[in-house]
Amino acid sequence: MTASSSIGKEAGNWAAYHRRFLPKLLAGAISIFIFLLWAANTFNLGGSPRRSSGHLFDYLGPISIKPPSISAAAVVSLPPIPPPFPNSWISPFNFLNYSSILLSRWLAPGGEPCRDSPTDAISIPAIDSAFAASSTVLLLTSGDIHEFAVTALEASGRPRCLGGDYFETDLFGPSWKSRPPIIDLGNGSYILRLQVHPRFAAHDAVFTFSVVLLFRSFDGLKLSPDRFSLRRELRRVNIKFLPPHPSTSLPDLRLCRAADFGLPAWSGRWTRHARNDSCAVDRAGRYRCLDPALPCELPWCAGKLGSLESNGWVYSAHCAFGVFDAAAAWRCLAGKWVLFWGDSNHVDTIRNLLNFVLGLTDIDAVPRRFDRRFANPDNASEILRITNIFNGHWNDSLNYLGVASLRHAPFRDLIWGFFNETGDRFPDAVVLNSGLHDGIYWKSVRRFAAGAEEAAAFWEAVMAHVRSRRPEAPPRVFYRTTVATGGYARDLGFNPSKMESFDGILKEKLKARGVLTGGVVDEFDMTFPWHYDNRCNDGVHYGRKPALTKWRDGQIGHQYFVDIMLVHVLLNAFCNS
Ligand SMILES: *[C@@H]1O[C@H](CO)[C@@H](O)[C@H](O)[C@H]1NC(C)=O
Ligand SMILES: *[C@@H]1O[C@H](CO)[C@@H](O)[C@H](O)[C@H]1NC(C)=O
Ligand SMILES: *[C@@H]1O[C@H](CO)[C@@H](O)[C@H](O)[C@H]1NC(C)=O
Ligand SMILES: *[C@@H]1O[C@H](CO)[C@@H](O)[C@H](O)[C@H]1NC(C)=O
Ligand SMILES: *[C@@H]1O[C@H](CO)[C@@H](O)[C@H](O)[C@H]1NC(C)=O
Ligand SMILES: *[C@@H]1O[C@H](CO)[C@@H](O)[C@H](O)[C@H]1NC(C)=O
Repeated sequence: MTASSSIGKEAGNWAAYHRRFLPKLLAGAISIFIFLLWAANTFNLGGSPRRSSGHLFDYLGPISIKPPSISAAAVVSLPPIPPPFPNSWISPFNFLNYSSILLSRWLAPGGEPCRDSPTDAISIPAIDSAFAASSTVLLLTSGDIHEFAVTALEASGRPRCLGGDYFETDLFGPSWKSRPPIIDLGNGSYILRLQVHPRFAAHDAVFTFSVVLLFRSFDGLKLSPDRFSLRRELRRVNIKFLPPHPSTSLPDLRLCRAADFGLPAWSGRWTRHARNDSCAVDRAGRYRCLDPALPCELPWCAGKLGSLESNGWVYSAHCAFGVFDAAAAWRCLAGKWVLFWGDSNHVDTIRNLLNFVLGLTDIDAVPRRFDRRFANPDNASEILRITNIFNGHWNDSLNYLGVASLRHAPFRDLIWGFFNETGDRFPDAVVLNSGLHDGIYWKSVRRFAAGAEEAAAFWEAVMAHVRSRRPEAPPRVFYRTTVATGGYARDLGFNPSKMESFDGILKEKLKARGVLTGGVVDEFDMTFPWHYDNRCNDGVHYGRKPALTKWRDGQIGHQYFVDIMLVHVLLNAFCNS
């Protein structure tokens, strides 16, 4: 399989780059990053603020349509209707009983045409009627959450009555990129939500919204889904976002605090605050497009935007993230121990943390399994210990077992060994992840659910042991969701549909057993807007080493900033109180 070499491969040389690019002071945001409080935080999966709407199937936001000519007189405006979720940020779907709802829908029998005929098209009445009037641009107010009913149709045009279709949604503009939530109601109906912050709704900014049907009827969960992949673009519409309704005032984002990581899934956005269009990859393979000291625009991030090497892009969710410099990161991490258990994306993330943030620019690569101490190059008395345990297989040179690697007793003992050290020394933070290798191993989602239950029970026992020895400060344990696999990998055994389902199941089981004392870092949502091609990923990794070589898509170099952003999000998770 193509993917095996790319998940497995860790080799490659990278000329060390010499300059420590992060200036030492993080002006203005220092107070955010002060000392780490490793105290446990209440983990509240139900904490997402939501309101139920009695009119899920009607379009509820103000809408107007605009004909091709940009003549103000021709713009048709419908009377404004109060939006369904005034003054709130968009949130993804409810995670209550995620696994049982998913499994029961996956098992739902057919027997009637509306259940058995595959989805061929969709209808989104509110949008479709606007475009039926031959308008070219849909006008929506910014700030509001606009909710649309979506119905899956079979080839005859009749509505389907079972869910399970996997739609990829994309909303992008010159300075915006997000994945609008689309919620499966299980009966052929879906709810779509769109929202753009007024800051990005400039007069000349045209947004594009697209829906791609990737898999039908849970086909993505199959063991070998390749031949079922559709990739059919069902809608592509232009939208302009108007100034907000007078009564709309979105709460300002604030920097994420520890409790903010309790949200089980994020619905964030990438926003762009600067750009240099003449920028190209340099000899080290890096995109040093902007002055590394270029500051963030509050409230979208705090710190140095330029140091992300993203040509101006930054990710924020229900809260925003600080971009750390070396001094702030070392202040937080000195004397700490962080343990990672997951796939080879951790290998990239750890190396990027060392190279791009902690000033350890001569570390060319880290292995899939290691336990090492790193000293601050500016202050040798500051030591960070990192342990990395690859979980794609119990044998770290093999692949495609995923959480089933825990069925191998010596592998369990290896993990236990880090929680049974003499002197009762325990990791301060633990980052768990799985999915890519599980996607290849597990024959069905039901079997994965059983494997995830075993994995959760294992980590529950480890955590119970730690709590019994050090009840006052148990490690903060995070689940970092799997990447949205990109480009060619959208069709494979670890496609985004399966990864999102597997993440949902494993998160729920870990949470139910009290393991996730720190919460969730939603890498799936962070990577999704960049998963349509291989510009930011090789299919399964987003943080490969910068290199001046031909990338998967034939162009020179790849954009690695999505993983650099993840490094900073993890630092916020570890360090913010
Ligand atoms: C979730 O599952 C529990 C226990 O099986 C049940 O009592 C509850 O009604 C379910 N909630 C939803 C929203 O399905
Ligand atoms: C689909 O399910 C939702 C939620 O249970 C319900 O409100 C809606 O009426 C159903 N739609 C149809 C067409 O049955
Ligand atoms: C834009 O990038 C080019 C190429 O890296 C660089 O020479 C130029 O100075 C940059 N311009 C700005 C305004 O940063
Ligand atoms: C080096 O780090 C130690 C431990 O954090 C600290 O006490 C000391 O002041 C630091 N030295 C300098 C020169 O910053
Ligand atoms: C791990 O797999 C490699 C490659 O197949 C093999 O050479 C090695 O002996 C295996 N290690 C163990 C401990 O089984
Ligand atoms: C680690 O400690 C736990 C709890 O005391 C024990 O059950 C387990 O067997 C130990 N494992 C190892 C490998 O020492």
